[in-house]
Formats: sequence, structure tokens, C-alpha cells
Amino acid sequence: MTIKKIFDLLNGYAPFAFQESWDSSGLQIGNLNNKVEKVVLSLDVTLSSVIEAKKIGAQLIISHHPLFFKPLKRIDLSNKVLKMLLESNISVISSHTPLDVVPDGVSFALGKILNLRNLKILSPLKEKFFYKIFFNVPTGLEKKILDELFSEGIGEYLYYKDCAFETFGEGRFSPKSPKGRPYISSIAPYKEGKIEVLIRKDKIDWVINKLRECHPYDEIAFDVFEEAINPLNIGYGSIGEFSSPIKLSQVIEDIKDALGLSKIRYSGDLKKKIKKVALLGGSGSSFIKEAVEKSADLFISGDIKYHDLLENSDKISIIDVGHRASEEPILISLKEMLSKEFREVEFFIYKELTDIYKYI
Ligand SMILES: [Fe+2]
Repeated sequence: MTIKKIFDLLNGYAPFAFQESWDSSGLQIGNLNNKVEKVVLSLDVTLSSVIEAKKIGAQLIISHHPLFFKPLKRIDLSNKVLKMLLESNISVISSHTPLDVVPDGVSFALGKILNLRNLKILSPLKEKFFYKIFFNVPTGLEKKILDELFSEGIGEYLYYKDCAFETFGEGRFSPKSPKGRPYISSIAPYKEGKIEVLIRKDKIDWVINKLRECHPYDEIAFDVFEEAINPLNIGYGSIGEFSSPIKLSQVIEDIKDALGLSKIRYSGDLKKKIKKVALLGGSGSSFIKEAVEKSADLFISGDIKYHDLLENSDKISIIDVGHRASEEPILISLKEMLSKEFREVEFFIYKELTDIYKYI
């Protein structure tokens, strides 16, 4: 089986098209056509995770945090991680913000491991995520042009790809200058199709340039409209509830058990009863306000900043389990999903053995 099959499944589960503009989720290094039998799932691509992958003979690492964040200017093999990945022919696929924003992503995995029910997105993306482009095509050329766009992921919509809609009508024009080179010689009216496709904001220029390249008209008739709503149920964090109220002290013990932690930081009254819980896997400080607005009794995340805690400690109980521990449950969800689909491939979860923070 090829790595491409795993890439396609991940792209269906958490479409790479949903990544933030600053993110670099997707294939990081390697070859999607390589064969795969063993896969390591890890939050980060560290030297120890690559050594582990090499030791067990894995051909692929799937990480949450990307291997490359900034555009690469050179391949420096004094970088031991890169050197070992290349020498051992290990490919890396990362799914960062796509896994953060989809339902059943990072924050849902954290909620599920804590037995929360009715999980929903905490902070739906308000960004006008999608635009729609309409463009005219001569009948018969639709497939050729759409294939060019689809090959770059245009027309992907949540769990579907290659999405487009076409209507038919009659067009007309009159040449004004001999410089015009009309593709259709019979002047008016002529049969034409109009295609509409959803596109992400950051792909608008790419699509227009691509149309200029592959469309036969010297002047392409097109319009781009902003979608009035975010049509997707995606966003950061999750919010759910326990089946019955539990004391904060008990919630803390349950979290320690579920995440395998000996200590966690918290703020709040240990006797307070907790029912509604907001969660954010990763660095969640900026979402505390939203958790308060949605009347959560407790906010669970990592990397809580001092001032955010100070500002909100009288409004909501807060538990900081650490960045890594708040994200690790997604590795379990991914392993379950991938193992069910690809029975011939072995999946291994790699957890860093030592905490990056040291305590003395
Ligand atoms: Fe993270």
C-alpha cells in the first residue's frame, strides 16, 4: 500500500485545505508513492521520534506539529532530524490546524478521553472562509478546465472533493478591436456553460491565474463573491458536559488518570461542582473569554498565560494540563481511525519520554 492512501484518508478526516495561512500542514518530506507497512504517530518530529521510527522500521511519521514551519531555503544535513529522515527514507505528513478545527479533532479527542458528552465546537471560525468563483466556459471544455483546478484541491468542501456546479445559457459579444481573438467565431448568441466553484480566500489569485493559463478565451468572464456565512461547522476548541455535576477536585483526579499526569496546574475552588466544560488542545489562553461567555464551569487547556488566568480566575475554573498532554489524545483517535481503515498497516503512537520542561 502507498503512503498516498493514508494521505488521502487524513485529507478526508481533516482537509488540509482548512489550514491557517501561516500553517504548513501536508506532506513535509518524502514520497507519497512509497510503500508503507509501519507508521509512527507523534505530536512532533523530534530526533527521538525519528530514532524510534527508524528502530521499528516505519516508512512514515504522522505528526501534529509540522516539521517545517518557515519556507525552507536550504537542506542542511547537519540537522540530524532531516539527515536521518532522508537516509532512512522516512516520509513525514503533518496535520496541524486542520486537526485543530475539524469536529473530532484535537479538542474533541481531549473531551472524549474525559467522558464529556454533547461535544460541540467552542469557537466556530468567523472568518469568511470561502469565496465562490463563477466563470464561463465553452461547452465541451468544462472537464479539462475543472481537472486543472481540482488537481490543486480547488472544489474541496469539508469531506468532499471535485465539487462544482454548471448551468447553461447563451452568451454574446461583438468585437471592438482587431486585437481581440475570440475563441468562438460565430458571434451571437452562442451556447456557453457557467461553472461555480467554492474557493478559499488564499486561493483566489491562484485560480484566476490558472484560468488565464488554461482557459481558451482571451478575456475570461468571471466573478468572485464572498460567501455570506461560514458554511462549515469548523472552529477551535470544544465544549461539552459531564453526565452529572462533579466536584473540581474529582475532575482533577480523573484528568490526571486519563492523561497519565502526576501534577497539574489549576485555578478555582476544589469544592465547586463542574458540569459544563470547554476545552482547547494546545495553547488555549485566548479562548478563556469564549468559554466564560458560553457559561462553561471549567476551561481545560495548555500554556495558560498568567494575565489571562488573573483576568478570568473569578469567572471560571481553569486547568492547565500542559500543551503536550492536552494534544496527545488526538494520537489515540488517529490510531483508531487509521487502524480500522488500513488493517495491513501497523500504527504506533510515540510519546516523548521526558517532559520538555524540567522541574527542580
Ligand atoms: Fe500544539
